Amino acid sequence: MGAQQVKTTPSQRLQRIGAYLFADLDRRQEELRARGVDVINLGVGDPDLPTPPHIVEALTRAVHDPRTHRYPPYLGTREFREAVAEWFAGRFGVSLDPQQQVLALIGSKEGLAHLPWALLNPGEVALVPDPGYPVYRSATIMAEGEPYPVPLRPERGFLPALDEIPAEILSRARLLFLNYPNNPTGAVATVEFFAQVVAFAQRWGLVVVHDNAYSEITYDGYVAPSILQVDGAADCAIELHSLSKTYNMTGWRVGFAVGNRAAVDALGTVKTNVDSGVFTAVQAAAVAALRGPQDSVARTLAIYRARRDRVVAALRRVGWSPPTPKGTLYIWMPTPDGQSAAAFCAEVLERTGVVITPGAGYGAFGEGYVRLSLTTPDARLDEALDRITRAYA
Ligand code: MLT
Repeated sequence: MGAQQVKTTPSQRLQRIGAYLFADLDRRQEELRARGVDVINLGVGDPDLPTPPHIVEALTRAVHDPRTHRYPPYLGTREFREAVAEWFAGRFGVSLDPQQQVLALIGSKEGLAHLPWALLNPGEVALVPDPGYPVYRSATIMAEGEPYPVPLRPERGFLPALDEIPAEILSRARLLFLNYPNNPTGAVATVEFFAQVVAFAQRWGLVVVHDNAYSEITYDGYVAPSILQVDGAADCAIELHSLSKTYNMTGWRVGFAVGNRAAVDALGTVKTNVDSGVFTAVQAAAVAALRGPQDSVARTLAIYRARRDRVVAALRRVGWSPPTPKGTLYIWMPTPDGQSAAAFCAEVLERTGVVITPGAGYGAFGEGYVRLSLTTPDARLDEALDRITRAYA
């Protein structure tokens, strides 16, 4: 028998997902840089400011202790889980059992990606916001579930149109993904909204997966709630948090899941099977972040707020219509003259060398929008705005 062709074709589920949005944008930027274009990246939300020194020092101390060099405890060190519970109580007034309601994550993206494996059976539905962080959909597909897009529309303040979901879909649904402050729209939600969500979830037996990665990135006096502030939420909700955006730690990969015991436990079981936890020294640094001085967060927010205001003002001066978000690192703007998102991004890149993200990358309801991130150093951001002004004013 002759040799068979090696079956390296990506699996059908991977083919359905394709490359990650930002991996794709990175690749295109590399091509442009290779052609000599001075590219300014307003695409990914990746804080340019350094991690505060006391957090770096905590890592340095911990890394010199050889006990941190072995496998970490699967679910997180006791100290890390206690620090999370303390931070949560102080920040949201919600008390958590650190042993059963807190789980360390290799960043909230990792937890989101593994949750459908923990809770969804093949063919069951996960309700995913559209536009939404692409991981909700791709993780559902990986678990052989069915993602059902729930539109976020501007006329509803980009809150999900839960009342439009057909009963047939709801009867097959098990997960409802939410994310406020919202990526990519910058929309924010109230505790009253979360109370409605909890009632809805209880009616249909859904687990709410609330991605609260931007809880600390808010402006103009708005303070983001946790869904766990709602009475009874811990019966149906799991919430994911990240240190990435709050403490400028995207590269460190550390976050946590909290809330419903059964969901936390199931996610922990997936993780014990597929990964070996967060490096213990990184958890020690995370403890320093959560328990230490929080003034760096206010300084970071002041920088983002100033950038937000400069970007919004500059874009309005060229006749575009960005709203002023109360949360996240993003400006979510309709394309001028109803152009397609991809065409507009390609045109901006061609005319200015500035990368912005096409809204359609977040789902069909993101078409007609683009996203600009505020995580570029001031001088480069101003250069990007100058180029846009020169090209479009
Ligand atoms: C984004 O730009 O949407 C985020 O930085 C991506 C992420 O958090 O993984």
